[in-house]
Amino acid sequence: MLQKIKSFFEVLEADSLESKSDVLINILLLAENEGLSEIDNGKTVDELKIIQTKYCSKKGLLPDLMKYMGKVSNKDKPVLGKIIHDFKITLENKFNERLTALKNAERQAKLEAEKIDVTLPGCNSQIGHKHPLTLVEEQVKEIFTNIGFTVVEGFEIEEDYYNFERLNIPKDHPAREMQDTFYLNEDVVLRTHTSPVQARIMDMMCPQLPVKIIAPGKVFRRDDDSTHSPMFHQIEGLMVDKNITFADLKGILLHLLKSIFGEERKIRLRPSYFPFTEPSAEVDVSCGNCNQEGCRVCGYTGWIEILGSGMVHPSVLEMAGYDPNEVTGFAFGIGIERIAMLKYGIDDMRLLFDNDLRFLEQF
Ligand code: PHE
Repeated sequence: MLQKIKSFFEVLEADSLESKSDVLINILLLAENEGLSEIDNGKTVDELKIIQTKYCSKKGLLPDLMKYMGKVSNKDKPVLGKIIHDFKITLENKFNERLTALKNAERQAKLEAEKIDVTLPGCNSQIGHKHPLTLVEEQVKEIFTNIGFTVVEGFEIEEDYYNFERLNIPKDHPAREMQDTFYLNEDVVLRTHTSPVQARIMDMMCPQLPVKIIAPGKVFRRDDDSTHSPMFHQIEGLMVDKNITFADLKGILLHLLKSIFGEERKIRLRPSYFPFTEPSAEVDVSCGNCNQEGCRVCGYTGWIEILGSGMVHPSVLEMAGYDPNEVTGFAFGIGIERIAMLKYGIDDMRLLFDNDLRFLEQF
């Protein structure tokens, strides 16, 4: 049809429109109908835009038509003008109407496709939980902060001086044999226990009193089997003040172990030896597995060894600047792995470091 109109105008170039305006009007009406039905059949917004270009744009039919207005007789001009104007308005209205309808339909289809079914089960995000060693460490921290102790941290890489010398363990002392470790150089080691924190904190505090701290952290030794790991965790405890006695140490340890293992547990202090405490005691807790009848867990003794402790050695106090005739103190060191193994019935320490979820999810 468009082609038809074009060729009609070509013929007009030579001639006048006068005698043919009726024909032109009819052709235009036909073109209008054809445009309308093309718009109706447009299936997508893109298709519609192509149709619009064909009829209404600068490159489309309308500007072509306007070119011929000058050739029309004065009588016919308003008539043809109105028809061209109507042609344009009708097509544009139709086009806009159809465009809106298509856009709505496309939007609707998109909404349908994206519809969220609120009745579907949600996706659970997996929330982890605390490692058994963290649980024990947090419990011990809570027990001590509740009775006025402060939590401090020392250095994992420690000077030989603090790890050994300040704890009465000189270079050739046999106690070094049990605490062989990783040497970074002759004077710097991976600490073998949390006890160097005792010396460091007393250096900081002296002459203030009381000193009441616990110090959790990693320690390192040349050990590796089912009950020993080259890296493990300890919590150091230290209290220094006037008139601190062995009874204070025992009372605090009884409170600690009952809080962890249960009110019915008993403790036993056995004489022991540490170069930095005098007197020293190894502390046992009654076996909860057999009620002290004797079993594999307690080695058929009814008691389980749990920590080392003692009264702070006078020369350790003195090296920090305290007068051992004026002040006394107690100290202890607990192995966190050991507590966790007893508390949760774990028989191999390595399980605590394997990070096997089948194990960890049990806590
Ligand atoms: N540091 C000692 C050890 O690791 C434990 C201990 C701490 C003993 C404090 C007495 C006092 O074996």
